[in-house]
Amino acid sequence: MDDALHTLALEAARRSYSPYSGFPVGAALRTEDGRTYSGCNIENASYPEGWCAETSAIAHMVMGGGGAIAEVAVLALNAERCTPCGGCRQRLAEFGTAETRVHLCNRDGLVETVRLGDLLPMGFALEKQS
Ligand code: THU
Repeated sequence: MDDALHTLALEAARRSYSPYSGFPVGAALRTEDGRTYSGCNIENASYPEGWCAETSAIAHMVMGGGGAIAEVAVLALNAERCTPCGGCRQRLAEFGTAETRVHLCNRDGLVETVRLGDLLPMGFALEKQS
């Protein structure tokens, strides 16, 4: 992973709106054709209505023209390592492949890189109609 992706994830985490958990998260992804998008977690007083950093980053990618995710960096400002939650693994899988690299980071840099296929074995998928 290059520093640029980590920097984007860190900047995103610093914009996190997480007053209920106090757990700011940032995610930054790179598409197969080289575009980058980032996002943070956005919480809500009605707790289940909040969403994750990875989800924000995916929304930005779709609005920026869509594409396939080659790699994604995830970090929490106050954790040694942040792994994507189960729902975000499924959302990443929608736009990635088993080989998509998931960079588990902290605020200082990369901790470990894993394959999306190892994070979500036997994930649910449907044939796309268009
Ligand atoms: N969170 C993320 O943004 N991404 C993850 O993959 C794990 C959890 C957020 C959701 C919530 O705002 C906070 O972290 C605590 O769960």
